[in-house]
Amino acid sequence: MLQDSFGRVATDLRVSLTDRCNLRCSYCMPPEGLDWLPKPELLTAEEIVRLVTIGVERLGITEVRYTGGEPLLRRELVEIVARTVALTPAPQVSLTTNGIGLARLAAPLAEAGLHRVNVSLDTLDRETFVKLAHRDRLADVLAGLAAAEAAGLRPVKVNAVLMRGINEHEAAGLLRYCLERGYELRFIEQMPLDAQHGWRRENMITADEILAMLKESFDLTEDDPVERGSAPAELFLVDGGPARVGVIGSVTRPFCGACDRVRLTADGQIRNCLFATEESDLRAAMRSGASDDELAERWTAAVRTKKAGHGIDDPSFLQPSRPMSAIGG
Ligand code: 5AD
Ligand code: SF4
Repeated sequence: MLQDSFGRVATDLRVSLTDRCNLRCSYCMPPEGLDWLPKPELLTAEEIVRLVTIGVERLGITEVRYTGGEPLLRRELVEIVARTVALTPAPQVSLTTNGIGLARLAAPLAEAGLHRVNVSLDTLDRETFVKLAHRDRLADVLAGLAAAEAAGLRPVKVNAVLMRGINEHEAAGLLRYCLERGYELRFIEQMPLDAQHGWRRENMITADEILAMLKESFDLTEDDPVERGSAPAELFLVDGGPARVGVIGSVTRPFCGACDRVRLTADGQIRNCLFATEESDLRAAMRSGASDDELAERWTAAVRTKKAGHGIDDPSFLQPSRPMSAIGG
């Protein structure tokens, strides 16, 4: 079991398959992109499957989420998903993607056994999309969402980050779009994870603000809180339900106390938190001949030192040196 010193047990593994991306969302990376990890430093598909297998078969991982950067850019994705689904006991397998390429890949991924997708969508306006993501790809994202729904990857989940002065007025419009199509929308507070270190608390649209904006157009009632479990979204029934909307107050309503996540970066480092300042290098261990037992031991030790919380509110808070795209959402 992956247990930390506060008694939390990590069962949800997030694996970044690449740090590359075909968008440049301003809360994530600068318009010119980043220095991508050199290929030899990336885990191979074989190495990824080996580590995920250790996680699932020996360490109690029950959910595996593939992320990036943009995981659809990883050529072996369908194969990796198929091999993950085939593990015993079979984990829940999902994907967090920006949706570009999903129009083509949703069906093969569903066929490979993928259970669910989360697609990022921050705006429905083409010009705002270009301003926010520095690429003219809104149509591809919307086509990707529709393909995921058609392929049965339901409920399709949508993640939105609102930014002051850019897309903050779109909260209700985004929700209406998702309700009409049966997608489940979650708003996420912007976290200090961008490579440019441009996050400012005063520019963050808080969970309270998001709820106030939504309540101008919809009747929201808190959904059964027992269902929340360790899921970070606070869920609300929209206009009496059954449709729901989620608000993830990562900064103002931290859920660190119930966190059940652990991360594997694209270059094979275990991170016990998005905001961790230390990593444990499984790639080096693996490439110098470590056995499955030794890798499991290292991984367990890395989780044991997990901190109580991210401390974004603490004056001593340090933004992690690696951006979200290299860590894996
Ligand atoms: N703050 C909040 N959410 C972020 N995401 C990426 N960077 C940030 C950030 N700084 C979101 C993406 C995607 C998910 C992986 O996390 O929009 O939906
Ligand atoms: Fe790409 Fe996701 Fe970062 Fe946007 S947030 S640039 S889609 S990795």
